[in-house]
Amino acid sequence: MAEGTVHFPRGFLWGTATAAHQVEGNNTNNNWWAWEQQEGRILNGDKSGLACDWWGGRWKEDLDRAAETGQNAHRLSIEWSRIQPAPDRWDEEAIERYRLMLRGMLERGLMPMVTLHHFSNPIWLEEQGAWENDDTPQKFAQFVRKSVEALKEYVNYWVTINEPNVYAFGAYVEGTFPPGKKDLNAALPVMVNLARGHALAYWIIHELQPEARVGLSMNYRSIFPAGSSPLDKWVAGFQSRAFNDMFPHAAMDGKLRLIYKTVKIPEMAKTQDFLGVNYYTRDLISFDLRHSGSFFGHRYYRPDADLSGTGFLALEPDGFYEALKWGLQFNVPMLVTENGVEDADDKIRPRYIAEHIMKMWRAVNFNWPVKGYFHWSLVDNFEWERGWSQRFGLWGLDVATQVRIRRPSVDFYAEICKENGLSSAMVAKYCPEVKSKLFPN
Ligand code: FCB
Repeated sequence: MAEGTVHFPRGFLWGTATAAHQVEGNNTNNNWWAWEQQEGRILNGDKSGLACDWWGGRWKEDLDRAAETGQNAHRLSIEWSRIQPAPDRWDEEAIERYRLMLRGMLERGLMPMVTLHHFSNPIWLEEQGAWENDDTPQKFAQFVRKSVEALKEYVNYWVTINEPNVYAFGAYVEGTFPPGKKDLNAALPVMVNLARGHALAYWIIHELQPEARVGLSMNYRSIFPAGSSPLDKWVAGFQSRAFNDMFPHAAMDGKLRLIYKTVKIPEMAKTQDFLGVNYYTRDLISFDLRHSGSFFGHRYYRPDADLSGTGFLALEPDGFYEALKWGLQFNVPMLVTENGVEDADDKIRPRYIAEHIMKMWRAVNFNWPVKGYFHWSLVDNFEWERGWSQRFGLWGLDVATQVRIRRPSVDFYAEICKENGLSSAMVAKYCPEVKSKLFPN
């Protein structure tokens, strides 16, 4: 078998990603906390509770772990409901806490990337209809202005909104996120307002900090026609455009192509300095009249797919390559802002990491402008409506005791970060089952 090492360009960012509600704990003033108190909303009745206790101070030990294991960047989000607990009140103490965290990241050699909206809304905003309300983009803009003024000293990379596609579909089409609606007529104005919120945030950040780099993090889901029939191809193309293309295209040309109409948002044109790509998996899709609720697409994993711990994701590295290729059309640098797998036993994660990083190397090797990679996630954290059933951390978490568990993937990822590359020896050590595939003769 061939032996060797593939390297990434100097200065490549290697980190992990987290989100406020998933790691901080005690986020009692947001819509997710309220949702968790309702029966039947979260799998097994789980609650975020203390989460990873970052608000209690354990961010320090986790970021120590990140830095000690060779990472040079970290993506986190700030929680709107902490910074603005009521419409007429800013919490300076909470802002100070975030300043401390960001300083702590810089002191550890971790370049901060900050997400301004990662799924959660303050309860007061939710009560006003959240992103269904046309005033919300302006309210978000005020929060962005306040936060960026306070934090810009430490941050150059800003993600305005995490996965607006997943938020809109989860909260207003599938109903798995609060407010749990299944109503396309509600989803469409939400999409428009998310787009407007992004655009306002983009221009405010540049006004306050001209040199900042601002973008969206998009969840790219590879949607692959199951067969060769024109209908399978049509439904794959249609769903991929609706889910993947809508926001980043609008951030390029100011036109939000909704399912049946195009809404012009001129201020959104040219509002991405980079594209954040979150990639997890690929679906096969076939045209099926019985699936009218999902736009006539029946989606499923390849029957022989390598599945994650609870079957939530399939390991499909070709879809990652496809995602990066798709990202080229936006003509901006790309950052992989999330990629990972839920796997409590760490059986699949090493090969998931190896296979995806090899695809990313291929892309970089063609001079595609991929500048960094943030693994989801540093430590197991609260997985939204799936609660604690899914474990995405390099480090495991014992939720009852807050003890961290060192999975083999911690050491594997550390070797990758320190080498700024992936070697056949690492693959032989951590996931020998894919060595001949990744380093063939
Ligand atoms: C993404 C979310 C992130 C996490 C991962 C597994 O869609 O952005 O918060 O839940 O999925």
